[in-house]
Amino acid sequence: MADGSWYDADIDHVIISEEQIREKIDELAKQVSADHADAKDGILLVCVLKGAVMFMADFARALGRHGPSTEMEFMAVSSYGQGTTSSGVVRILKDLDRDITDRHVLVVEDIVDSGLTLSWLMKYLESRSPASVEVVALFRKPDAVKVQVPVKYVGFDIPSEFVVGYGLDFAERYREMPYVGVLKPEVYARS
Ligand code: XMP
Repeated sequence: MADGSWYDADIDHVIISEEQIREKIDELAKQVSADHADAKDGILLVCVLKGAVMFMADFARALGRHGPSTEMEFMAVSSYGQGTTSSGVVRILKDLDRDITDRHVLVVEDIVDSGLTLSWLMKYLESRSPASVEVVALFRKPDAVKVQVPVKYVGFDIPSEFVVGYGLDFAERYREMPYVGVLKPEVYARS
């Protein structure tokens, strides 16, 4: 948790600790591994940049310990801009580099909030004829239950507050934090 790093002073309260994240990722990897034991071509992990980058790195390594094999792809989409509320507009900033036809795709998402980004992404990926598309999301906010997006694997259900850390940012900062927390109000006031 708090370890005397510069960002600790900006955090109002911690939501999920580094240790909780580590344990949960191993648990998720074991579940995904058990469910895909027969996947001959392995799993194609699609990381949604930038927020899911830490999760992708740790999850892929955890899955590596359990199998099956994985390959990694990266997409970047934008739905929030520089602020903390959804713009409702999803833009592709970086597309897939390869064909996903007949592949078992697992979307690696940081957080599902309104579900807008994910439902758009699922439709986009399904239009490219994969064998399957599933989602693993490390965090889910309460509003996500209102949308019909099937998130098969969920790490943590968290309150409907804007959180930073472990890949999640505010104005591109705080991604390097190993834990997830809520910023002090004055941080928003001074930006
Ligand atoms: P929707 O509302 O489309 O949002 O499900 C998904 C994307 O929005 C970003 N997001 C957040 N980013 N702290 C962040 O740093 C948050 O609390 C938060 N909530 C949503 C994130 O990029 C996610 O993929």
